[in-house]
Amino acid sequence: TEYNGLGEVSGKRVLVRSDLNVPLDGTTITDDGRIRASVPTIKALADAGARVVVVAHLGRPKGEPDPSYSLAPVAERLGDLLGAPVAFASDTVGASAKETVAALADGQVALLENVRFNTGETSKDDAARGAFADELASLADAFVSDGFGVVHRKQASVYDVAQRLPHAMGALVGAEIDVLRRLTVEPARPYVVVLGGSKVSDKLGVIDNLLGKADKLLIGGGMVFTFLKADGHEVGKSLLEEDQLDTVRSYQARAKEIGVEILLPTDIVVADSFGDEASARVVPATAIPADALGLDIGPDSGAAFAAALADARTVFWNGPMGVFEQPAFAEGTRAVAAALTEVDGLSVVGGGDSAAAVRTLGFDEAAFGHISTGGGASLEYLEGKELPGITVLEENR
Ligand code: 3PG
Repeated sequence: TEYNGLGEVSGKRVLVRSDLNVPLDGTTITDDGRIRASVPTIKALADAGARVVVVAHLGRPKGEPDPSYSLAPVAERLGDLLGAPVAFASDTVGASAKETVAALADGQVALLENVRFNTGETSKDDAARGAFADELASLADAFVSDGFGVVHRKQASVYDVAQRLPHAMGALVGAEIDVLRRLTVEPARPYVVVLGGSKVSDKLGVIDNLLGKADKLLIGGGMVFTFLKADGHEVGKSLLEEDQLDTVRSYQARAKEIGVEILLPTDIVVADSFGDEASARVVPATAIPADALGLDIGPDSGAAFAAALADARTVFWNGPMGVFEQPAFAEGTRAVAAALTEVDGLSVVGGGDSAAAVRTLGFDEAAFGHISTGGGASLEYLEGKELPGITVLEENR
């Protein structure tokens, strides 16, 4: 009944920071991947006899209670997945939280209301964050950090609370870090990185850091149009970040210098306007009409990307290739996802939209080496940035 260096947890109140930030349609959870990924740590603690108090955020409310960001539906789903009811506190550190925690028996689980209903959680002011962390810490005897998707945030329930309680790293954070480390320390080669998503500006750090490590970089998604434009092609009404053109050109020059191939799509699925499936058609990437906008990579590109992935031994993929939520623009993302399932080696899907895409398109999660629960967190790790939620555990051992 001990947990990962915490010693005896039976009968103790253990605060667990999980990342339960799932997409909701009203009160319906549309992808429960993060809840399922959080279950093993919560269950292990409950099985060990701990009184488990889960703290988490949902979305970005403005530091005050807002019913549209309530974690109530998540409490219910968590209970279903655990096979035991989860007591839900209607506040985070107030009267309801205190009563709910006091009423827990050994082995029972409670979830506190959205931690971001409190201004102290995300405050940039150390004292304000610390004061809120004091309140959180008073609810427990120990802390387990298991919200991998938020370890890049210096926030009270991620960072400051670990300075106030005996703490341990949860199983999910441990597993995520292990996999990501394999992408940065002596990855098996060929090592292919696939990047998509809408903006180049979100991926600058990753490109910068991985350019020297990967053997090939495949670029799709909205960000590809800035690459095509940098090569001198017109991109019509497609997404374009003019202010990143020079940066992109510098990446291309560096790639050439060090012998890394940057593979761009040769055909593009365009439409007359965003989401207009009826007008979807395939055009050469070098001849996008002035009045069209690109919404997916084309079939030839999907096949070329799959071929580039066929002999890879390590793959990291972040960001969809197109507007995968609509069938007419989903095939590029599907082709990349399918190619990843065939990789003989380590294939990692990096968080957020790409993880949701894989599940939405009906792929079996087990066919991938690892599907990260962290979007920003996994990118920042690969950028070589320090993750406050991890460093604080090391510093305060
Ligand atoms: C995420 O969705 O990437 C994490 O839950 C972190 O959320 P945040 O970007 O609002 O901090």
